[in-house]
Amino acid sequence: MSRPLTILGIESSCDDTAAAVVRGTADDATVLSSIVFGQTALHADFGGVVPEIAARAHAEKVDHCVADALSDAGLALMDCDAIAVTAGPGLIGGVLSGVMSAKGLAAATGLPLIGVNHLAGHALTPRLTDAVPFPYLMLLVSGGHCQFLIAHDRDRFERIGGTIDDAPGEAFDKTARLLALPQPGGPSVEAAAKTGDPKRFKLPRPLLDRHDCDMSFSGLKTALLRARDGVIGPEQTLNRIDQADLAAGFQAAVTDVLTAKTALALDLYLALNPATPTLAVAGGVAANMAIRTALTDLCTWRNTAFLAPPLALCTDNAAMIAYAGLTRFAAGEQDDLTLGARPRWPLDDTAPAMLGSGKKGAKA
Ligand code: KG4
Ligand code: ZN
Repeated sequence: MSRPLTILGIESSCDDTAAAVVRGTADDATVLSSIVFGQTALHADFGGVVPEIAARAHAEKVDHCVADALSDAGLALMDCDAIAVTAGPGLIGGVLSGVMSAKGLAAATGLPLIGVNHLAGHALTPRLTDAVPFPYLMLLVSGGHCQFLIAHDRDRFERIGGTIDDAPGEAFDKTARLLALPQPGGPSVEAAAKTGDPKRFKLPRPLLDRHDCDMSFSGLKTALLRARDGVIGPEQTLNRIDQADLAAGFQAAVTDVLTAKTALALDLYLALNPATPTLAVAGGVAANMAIRTALTDLCTWRNTAFLAPPLALCTDNAAMIAYAGLTRFAAGEQDDLTLGARPRWPLDDTAPAMLGSGKKGAKA
């Protein structure tokens, strides 16, 4: 059995600056601390993440995050065995802030440096939270990403489909803007949808005619804009009923697309891996109760375990980066001070490149 390792993790790829300490082995690890400084307020006036503002805020906050994470864990930096940092994919300025900070700490202390793929962090989270055995099917669904991955091993992921344009979280955020609801859009659209009639507006379910696991959400947003313009008043105001019905219609369309495509992904996955029937989700959109319930029902019907890590570990955080770094370090891998920041870094470079660009910049 390998010895327990203590790893400091740093994450700064989008609009959350985070640091965490994880201790244990690849099969049994515990989160000792996890600090996240969100930047929502900084970007609120701009209707999206402004890369320059994000990078500057990361650079200002990252040292404080590291200090707080170490202090919450009751440790000093030299109690750690290594420093793991997100080296991509993401907004380049943000990733650079984290990588430069980690390099500085590694150079000053002599601790090993480990670059981590942010998507691997998400995809390995079910191992951190529930010690799920490989392989398992993963749906990563956030503001920047939407893909189905089969996690075969800590460093072997197979992408079997994903969005060809917007990520669902991005679509929720844009929908909130169109409906004059606050950001982030996911929770406010979900709240507005509660009293709405999901059937009143006929919104499309893009790509359901295609028997593959690819998805598209940008046409849905345009359809929503048209539906809204059909009911908006002369003062450009929406009444509450229209707002709720549009939100409910949009949420139902996203739920239908995600559920139908997850059913196809499960077909593919279970045909090859019948012995480990597990679907895990990660990403902020996995917080949506309508989507969660639909996926839970689908898994019950398909005799598949459904695993949704606690929300704080579903959304961007550094514990997942520390854990992914721990698995690399335990396997004898590490980087040196030439570690670069990679804005685009697919987990599965044998799968065709994904099109479009999400709020995290170029899609992985
Ligand atoms: O994973 P995350 O924190 O950050 C990344 O994008 O990587 O996800 C944030 C996204 C936002 O677009 C937000 O609107 C969406 O997740 N989100 C939700 C909900 N809560 C957050 N979308 C739908 N329903 C929710 N309840
Ligand atoms: Zn993420």
